[in-house]
Amino acid sequence: MPMKSYIGLALCLLLFAACSQKPAGDKEAALNYKADSVLKLMTLQEKIGQMVLYTSDWDVTGPTIRSSYLDDIKKGNCGNIFNAHTVAYVRTLQKAAVEESRLGIPLLFGYDVIHGYKTIFPISLGEACSWDLAAIEKSARVSAIEAAASGLNWTFAPMVDISVEPRWGRVSEGAGEDPYLGSCIATARVKGFQGTDLADTSTILACVKHFAAYGAPLAGRDYNTVDMSRRVFLDTYLPPYKAAIEAGAGSVMTSFNELDGVPATGSKALLTDLLRKELGFKGIVVTDYTAINEMVNHGIVANEEEAGALALNAGVDMDMQGEIFFKYLEKQVKAGSVKVKQIDDAVRRILRVKFELGLFDDPYKYCSEAREKANVYSKENLEAALDVAKRSLVLLKNDNQALPLRKGDKIAVIGELAASKRDLLGSWIAAGQWENIPSLLDAMETYQGDILYAEGCKKMGDDRTGFAEALRTAAKADKIVLVIGESCDWCGEASSRSDIHVPGVQTELLAELNKLGKPVVVVLMNGRPLDLSREESLADALLETWFAGSMGGEAITQVLYGEYNPSGKLTMSFPRNIGQVPIFYYEKNTGRPIYLPNDKYKSKYIDVPNDPLFPFGFGLSYTTFEYSNLQLSDTLLSNGGSLKATVQVKNTGKVKGEEVIQWYIRDLVGSVTRPVKELKGFQKMELNPGESRTVAFTLTPDKLAFHRIDMSFGTEPGEFLVFVGGNSSDVMQKRFQLR
Ligand code: BGC
Repeated sequence: MPMKSYIGLALCLLLFAACSQKPAGDKEAALNYKADSVLKLMTLQEKIGQMVLYTSDWDVTGPTIRSSYLDDIKKGNCGNIFNAHTVAYVRTLQKAAVEESRLGIPLLFGYDVIHGYKTIFPISLGEACSWDLAAIEKSARVSAIEAAASGLNWTFAPMVDISVEPRWGRVSEGAGEDPYLGSCIATARVKGFQGTDLADTSTILACVKHFAAYGAPLAGRDYNTVDMSRRVFLDTYLPPYKAAIEAGAGSVMTSFNELDGVPATGSKALLTDLLRKELGFKGIVVTDYTAINEMVNHGIVANEEEAGALALNAGVDMDMQGEIFFKYLEKQVKAGSVKVKQIDDAVRRILRVKFELGLFDDPYKYCSEAREKANVYSKENLEAALDVAKRSLVLLKNDNQALPLRKGDKIAVIGELAASKRDLLGSWIAAGQWENIPSLLDAMETYQGDILYAEGCKKMGDDRTGFAEALRTAAKADKIVLVIGESCDWCGEASSRSDIHVPGVQTELLAELNKLGKPVVVVLMNGRPLDLSREESLADALLETWFAGSMGGEAITQVLYGEYNPSGKLTMSFPRNIGQVPIFYYEKNTGRPIYLPNDKYKSKYIDVPNDPLFPFGFGLSYTTFEYSNLQLSDTLLSNGGSLKATVQVKNTGKVKGEEVIQWYIRDLVGSVTRPVKELKGFQKMELNPGESRTVAFTLTPDKLAFHRIDMSFGTEPGEFLVFVGGNSSDVMQKRFQLR
């Protein structure tokens, strides 16, 4: 061992001894005490090193600025690494930090474990469509177990950005358009990643992103300006971040966008006044990838040095990949433009998290080859992925009993995506591997044996030369399954689209197949709501499968053949065309609502209806559900009281199925105008054929609160409607009053 390492180790021992003397008092005080005992030993340069996060050269999502990260670690210039994983590699880097840096402070290892580490679950938008919080939490739990077993202790998830923008490719990473559902899912994901104890070796630190309002870029173009009223921000966009923080998320990532003229990464109003003071967030604020540097391009500062000061003063603790804190903070302290106290505060927060993770007790606690072997890509994890995948699929149309397929049917499968393995995984696939997973075609062949297949056309481009063979193949079959959609890299970051049709000539092929007069089932793979107007008119059945993950092929097969009755419901509205975007169910009534009797002067299009093709909350099943007898325990709700709404839900079909019962409210008159509907509760429930159940929902005043005219948060007395139904547009309603 080189001399330097011995010095490092000796200092480590001293440091651990200091840390183990816990003061009396609460957990907070104990953490601060431990962090402060380390802080006392640190030079300014070492402190700044803790505020630095560099990517390894394994994976990047932007330019790689420094290739010398190993050196930086040893010199104490870099306290955190991302995009490095596997036990072997993490151990090498951790060893450099612990044994070769002067103080031996362990590294955080971050990675974008968004919908799985190696076992890939459906893309987050797909998972959200399960409306199954237990399944979503399980997905995050399994992802954490795998990531933690492979050396990681931090994920850059959950992404909780609300979005009503299908043009924006990153809708695939979130939960959709709704603040209430988004909040429930944010909570489930944080719980799944972090468990109940961060020090447990199967949990990892969550990072809520992107703070804030990144999901509303103008015109759906990634990284574009965000401009919204404060009221919309507080009522619609903020709730999921808030929920994730209340669930205990230990870190928050700033967003690339500006909000109200200030880039989020330099916004004191967002990062300090709102996040820390109002929401009480105590964890780490990390920037997005080079987001400090980008403030120069935003035009909020003249140069990178100023950008660094702006970010620190706003409340940023850690600079992801930008090199700005590394290059300028020391100089700025000397010049007096930033204070050592600010640096100490940031470093204390970072060290606290390292203590909470237990890294000071055992820096190699995430580095067990045995655990890696046992926990990553296990049979059990794949089963969990299959379960969530089945629940995420949304049946959008099913005429003429096109589905389910029967084993005896002669099936022709058409489309490049049917045979694709890579696309099934979607974007952000971490360590996901597709080479050995079954494609949809493989899974259908395994299930049924004799499947006919022709590619027909590619998912992109205008080559029609495969049409003839596809038509010949389809002509031999009883039913046609056409698999079309987007390429997996058409969703996620930097994948905005101005046209949300199914790309290429895939729909043309559908039109040709339709002429054969046989039932055509369209299986869609895509990462955003698409304009499916044409597909809807041409297909007998439409099954939205998103990018369903490692077990996607099998999950889709099970749904196609009725082994699993689809139960997913959309969490984003699907427009009739791009011109309707943004479209979302919680719109306002306007002064000239569509239902007015006159023909022209009202809020409508002259060329397309106002409503979406498929509304929020919509999804069919192989059975049918009937709602009846909506009752309220009272028509008056008093402050501090509650009201019970009940409804009878019956499975009126022939097979067992799950229904998502959705409860909405409307505040009829407010000091500011209120949405025509707001989701406030839901239950997912399985019913046998003929079975009927009374489902209850408790209405309490807090569910009716909003930001009033004076921006205070609370309720206003008056008339309300409560709605219940199987989607946001087919509902029953009752009136009540809040006193
Ligand atoms: C993305 C983040 C991601 C980060 C690190 C950025 O480009 O916006 O969501 O966590 O890269 O990979």
